[in-house]
Amino acid sequence: MDAENLVRVTPGGPYELQGDFRLLGEETEQRVEHAKLCRCGRSGQLPHCDGSHAQGPAPPPSTDGFESDVEDASGPVEVRFSERGAIHLKGPVRVLDETGALIVKRSRCLLCRCGASRQQPICDGAHNRVG
Ligand code: FES
Repeated sequence: MDAENLVRVTPGGPYELQGDFRLLGEETEQRVEHAKLCRCGRSGQLPHCDGSHAQGPAPPPSTDGFESDVEDASGPVEVRFSERGAIHLKGPVRVLDETGALIVKRSRCLLCRCGASRQQPICDGAHNRVG
């Protein structure tokens, strides 16, 4: 089994990705093993974290209520960004809180990018309200 893809929700800060990720732009694909992606909605360098969460930290994650749908979280993961929406992950990931506790293990998921979701770290559509 290859190493699993990890998404760590850091306290007040970004998502830390570790694994086999392809960051997709309109006409670009960047393969990365590590990345820090904004989850507070304040970065001037979206989708990457620029440290702006220091002005207002991202909310803490919840660790219950999410259903996992994969056992093995290894293999490539496509990451797409929409200007005013969630971060789309297509591929298996293990999402962890800052202590390393499992939040959810999914074959695809939508991560909140705006900081307003009430079911952190998963998008609940609140970006339609806050942008
Ligand atoms: S990106 Fe935050 S609720 Fe959708």
